[in-house]
Amino acid sequence: MGVNENVQKPLDRLAEALASEMEAVNALIRQRMASRHAPRIPEVTAHLIEAGGKRLRPMLTLAAAKLAGYDGPYHVHLAATVEFIHTATLLHDDVVDESRQRRGRPTANLLWDNKSSVLVGDYLFARSFQLMVEPGNLRTLEILANASATIAEGEVLQLTAAQDLGTDESVYLQVVRGKTAALFSAATEVGGVIAGAPEAQVRALFDYGDALGIAFQIVDDLLDYGGATETIGKNVGDDFRERKLTLPVIKAVASADPAERAFWARVIEAGDQHDGDLEQALRLLDRHGSMRAARADAMDWAERAKSALAELPDHPVRDMLSDLADFVVSRVA
Ligand code: IPE
Ligand code: IPE
Ligand code: MG
Ligand code: MG
Repeated sequence: MGVNENVQKPLDRLAEALASEMEAVNALIRQRMASRHAPRIPEVTAHLIEAGGKRLRPMLTLAAAKLAGYDGPYHVHLAATVEFIHTATLLHDDVVDESRQRRGRPTANLLWDNKSSVLVGDYLFARSFQLMVEPGNLRTLEILANASATIAEGEVLQLTAAQDLGTDESVYLQVVRGKTAALFSAATEVGGVIAGAPEAQVRALFDYGDALGIAFQIVDDLLDYGGATETIGKNVGDDFRERKLTLPVIKAVASADPAERAFWARVIEAGDQHDGDLEQALRLLDRHGSMRAARADAMDWAERAKSALAELPDHPVRDMLSDLADFVVSRVA
């Protein structure tokens, strides 16, 4: 193995190992995102889907199926399903979060309007259900249908947890497991199930996806305070503006003195935000080591993800999944 291959990012290595299948997934996505009857649909879907995105979740499905020795055609349908569910949630999420940037482009809600995002998101959800029945496997259907409900539940729970300084780490974990990790774990689990993997391996694939998804969302939440807009393709500071209790803030609030608590109460609970408040929030996160502590939690979850892989066959793809867990956390310094 050459030096370049060694340092190549795990995501790229995974993409390379799964290139031909990912091509089939992308072809299926393009075919199914079309609509002959409503031109707004291909406009919006093309805007978001052609912008790329990491395609992390469909790769997880393909990787899991490969690890479990699958040689049929349906992992492609399941992977496309997972990306459709993801894309639908992004359209809805950007309306809910009033976000202005996604995948380095203006959001659909900004370019068109909320109505288009909500309805095209619904269309993609419906498309995902059409796709998920095609393998004719009741168990993968159940996993993906359940994940869709769990994601929505997580987003709704977050809605009521936002603006509430009483939100603690256990509520945060519940939100993150729902809105993000549920799709990661469904993505890996269906790959194992379609391959007919032994139960212990299916369980391990679920555990890997669950832990990876939690690590991923913690990191995403850290990037919202510490990332650069150019690298994440989204606006920094959205969570603060939305008054979301993400892990670093929960940690800073837990160790706040009375004056700091009054600050958090004003900006998060009362939503009375002014110029300089985001900077002050960053200072408090720094003072209490909250970013570092949240990153340490993400690393713990990445370790759990890696441990789950022990149950799976020794295979180059398994090593890539292990490296991927480290890579997810390495996105934040
Ligand atoms: C964004 O997911 C939504 C979160 C769960 C944070 P990704 O970061 O995987 O989004 P894309 O698909 O690569 O744009
Ligand atoms: C993403 O949640 C989870 C879903 C899309 C369901 P966030 O709101 O935290 O993610 P970004 O930062 O907008 O991608
Ligand atoms: Mg959002
Ligand atoms: Mg959101």
